[in-house]
Amino acid sequence: MTGVFITFEGIEGSGKSTQINLLADRLRADGWQVVVTREPGGTPAGQALRKILLDPATGSLDSLTELLLFSAARRELVSKIIAPAVSAGQIVLCDRFADSTVAYQGYGRGMDISSIKSITQMVCGDAWPDKTIILDLPVEDGLKRASARFAVEGHAEARFEYEGVKFHIRVREGFQKIAQAEPERVTLIGATGDVEDVALSVYESVKRILPARNA
Ligand code: TYD
Repeated sequence: MTGVFITFEGIEGSGKSTQINLLADRLRADGWQVVVTREPGGTPAGQALRKILLDPATGSLDSLTELLLFSAARRELVSKIIAPAVSAGQIVLCDRFADSTVAYQGYGRGMDISSIKSITQMVCGDAWPDKTIILDLPVEDGLKRASARFAVEGHAEARFEYEGVKFHIRVREGFQKIAQAEPERVTLIGATGDVEDVALSVYESVKRILPARNA
């Protein structure tokens, strides 16, 4: 029995976690067993790496160091959480995955995208998303939402938020290019509208791939 692996991507403040929780509720109501996880994080080592990667106190990292730390956190998550859950027939919803590396380290930092893809291939193996939802919105709107959140939650995870607007614009364009290049796997959904309307679009897009797997 094989489950389904779904990833959520987008710039800062695109509302991924809200939408993941709404989708998880809907899928559970439909009778699916759903595992919700996130990157970086999701495992004890992943959480420790998350702190290094997102804490502004870390300061700037060599780009390759950053890529390898994200990749190490991903490997833990794939081998300990994602692959076992999918093999057990569950639906895994993951907040960020390999497309974030292409968008942030590739388009954002300017690292070579084919090298990123080789490392990603080694890290993920067959654990590749069946569906990826990219929540798209203008960078200014996303950064506004993100800084409102950081004002409440504190800045302990804001290392990427301190990157300039131009960095985030490159990341957004990177996600748009990923969606254009892989229209079957990746669905880009506008995230500026009403939360429930966005949630419905997400659910409809995901449901399209479920019956075939469920048959
Ligand atoms: P996250 O908690 O997902 O932030 P948000 O809720 O604001 O989207 O934070 C993860 C941060 O790490 C985010 O700024 C994107 C960045 N990131 C990368 O640069 N590369 C990666 O491979 C991943 C998974 C995340």
